[in-house]
Amino acid sequence: MQIESNFNLSKLNTFGITAKAKFFVEVNSEEELRELFADPIFVKNKKFFLGGGSNILFTKDFDGIVVLNKLKGIEIKEEDSEIVMVRALGGEIWHDLVIFAVNHRYWGIENLSLIPGTVGAAPIQNIGAYGAELKDTLYNVEAFEIETGLKRVFSQEECRLGYRDSVFKNELKNKYFISATTLKLSKKEKKNISYKILKEYLETNAIEIHNPKNISDAVASIRRSKLPDPKVIGNAGSFFKNVFINRDQLEKLQGIYKEMPFFEEDEVIKIPAGWLIEQCGWKGKRLGNVGVHEKQALVLVNYGEATGSEIIELASKIIESVKEKFDLTIMPEVNIV
Ligand code: EPU
Repeated sequence: MQIESNFNLSKLNTFGITAKAKFFVEVNSEEELRELFADPIFVKNKKFFLGGGSNILFTKDFDGIVVLNKLKGIEIKEEDSEIVMVRALGGEIWHDLVIFAVNHRYWGIENLSLIPGTVGAAPIQNIGAYGAELKDTLYNVEAFEIETGLKRVFSQEECRLGYRDSVFKNELKNKYFISATTLKLSKKEKKNISYKILKEYLETNAIEIHNPKNISDAVASIRRSKLPDPKVIGNAGSFFKNVFINRDQLEKLQGIYKEMPFFEEDEVIKIPAGWLIEQCGWKGKRLGNVGVHEKQALVLVNYGEATGSEIIELASKIIESVKEKFDLTIMPEVNIV
């Protein structure tokens, strides 16, 4: 374990924003983590835990220590003829875990293919896409309490997962380092193809589902066609969260916008923020170094030299215009640091 000073974070965030950390360290094992917890630089400074850097916007230098989770490993903990418990360490790339599952024909996370980021970050915002979310398969989370260095196992219920939300974004924000997660996957066919865009894609391309890889491949190609590759153009996926509204608001809006898409589940109504943003004329717009992606209005992009403040400025303008047109407040999904 080696603590570095004045470290440039531009390659460690998918927005590609230049920001420096006063201190930086990579953690490759639980032993290194314990060593770090006892280090005076760690103890005395503000801390920030980084995974894939795919849901983060740095708006200034970080005056503390940035810790990169590099704990690696995937193992089968338990299995019977129907269920398999797969434990993956926090620094694993999420999509590598999906590939592991798909190659073994384990069902449960194939709809979450190609979501950028790490396994350790996945429970923090309960990653979700194409009709599935981590909540559907998460069994438990292992995490170290930063103040005491003690390891705790959180059951799925204790993680309090919601739409892009968990206890780790609320009461326990910055209090735990997630070292591993265990997922409960299925050996029996358990396909989930009800999400409209996925269903249409499968029908249009006459794809039959025989194994989880068929779904994984379909999701990957939908994502590739809509979402920009951060290696080519800086971005952090959806910049905003979708919006929850009540029935009165839905009826009022539908009176004006008959074609407005919405999702309803368990009495909760969600409007795609991408649609709201597009209606305000933002889709594909560029303002200097920053812009709104041409194929998915939820995604803000860095055309090369953007600063975090420029992204924030664009986001604020978008929030304002959605408020003005629809009287709805959209909220950032990315973590602004
Ligand atoms: N839509 C528009 N204009 C747009 C974008 C979307 O009109 O620019 C409409 C679509 O026509 C469709 C609806 O909104 O009717 C939903 O679109 P889509 O399926 O693309 O999903 P989303 O709600 O915009 C969410 C997630 C994505 C995830 C997709 C697919 C959030 C904040 N975003 O987007 O997650 O990939 O569903 O399940 O919930 C991410 O979190 O980084 C991310 C990309």
